[in-house]
Amino acid sequence: MSRPATDSPLDDLQARINTFWNWRGDTRQPGGLAIRNQQELQVWMEVLRAWLPAAPADAVDLGTGQGFLALVMAALGHRVRGFDVAQAQLERAREFAANVSNPPVFAIGDAIEPPLEPSSVDVIANRNILWTLLDPARAFRNWFAALRPGGRLIALHGITNANSTAITPEAKARDEAAYAEEVKARLLPIRRLPTVDPALPLIREAGFGDVAVHRIQAIESFEKAFENRDKTWLVITAARA
Ligand SMILES: C[S@@+](CC[C@H](N)C(=O)[O-])C[C@H]1O[C@@H](n2cnc3c(N)ncnc32)[C@H](O)[C@@H]1O
Repeated sequence: MSRPATDSPLDDLQARINTFWNWRGDTRQPGGLAIRNQQELQVWMEVLRAWLPAAPADAVDLGTGQGFLALVMAALGHRVRGFDVAQAQLERAREFAANVSNPPVFAIGDAIEPPLEPSSVDVIANRNILWTLLDPARAFRNWFAALRPGGRLIALHGITNANSTAITPEAKARDEAAYAEEVKARLLPIRRLPTVDPALPLIREAGFGDVAVHRIQAIESFEKAFENRDKTWLVITAARA
């Protein structure tokens, strides 16, 4: 299922995105990609438990970054693999996983065409990658195909409701270079917006049923208390019948 390097006009655009995320991983930029304390882990475990099947299930975290969601699902006892296109992000993820008792396995993999066999996993999860998919319709079709019947999609989208103070001027400039107009034109129009609605018709067209959107106030409350940040957290849940 992996995409040949020369096959797609999107490769150059994806390479720019990868450069940005590798830089962020290499330079350990601040900005909330790591689980910061035990309380944050507990809040996320409680929230995700409601949508996950009984453990142990086969779960993947696409665009895992530094392994946030993968580590939460592994802490709940699932067999987890985390994929990302940025090697530097995966290196951070492996560092975080080094001290946990049920570590996820991390590997390079494109969320649009994940390296998964058809009907092979119970859960496709992801956090904060819907907005950066260059071909979201193709991604949703591939996610549907990779799920076993009865499998679940859990796609999270978190938005800071005011300008982030964590981002440095260099990070901002690099972000703007990666997410230039020709990239943005291909993305779902949800970046920094408190909505996932543009994704929903594509998710239904891919074959998913029971498509629903929930607001996650427990995580919003944690982040407000932890760092006085006003965020909106949404999750799309859907199922393969
Ligand atoms: C905003 S970060 C989110 C990271 C992580 N999911 C989290 O919630 O902390 C976006 C991540 O998506 C990755 N990414 C971007 N496009 C991707 C693609 N097509 N396939 C896999 N990963 C991708 C980036 O490398 C980056 O790690």
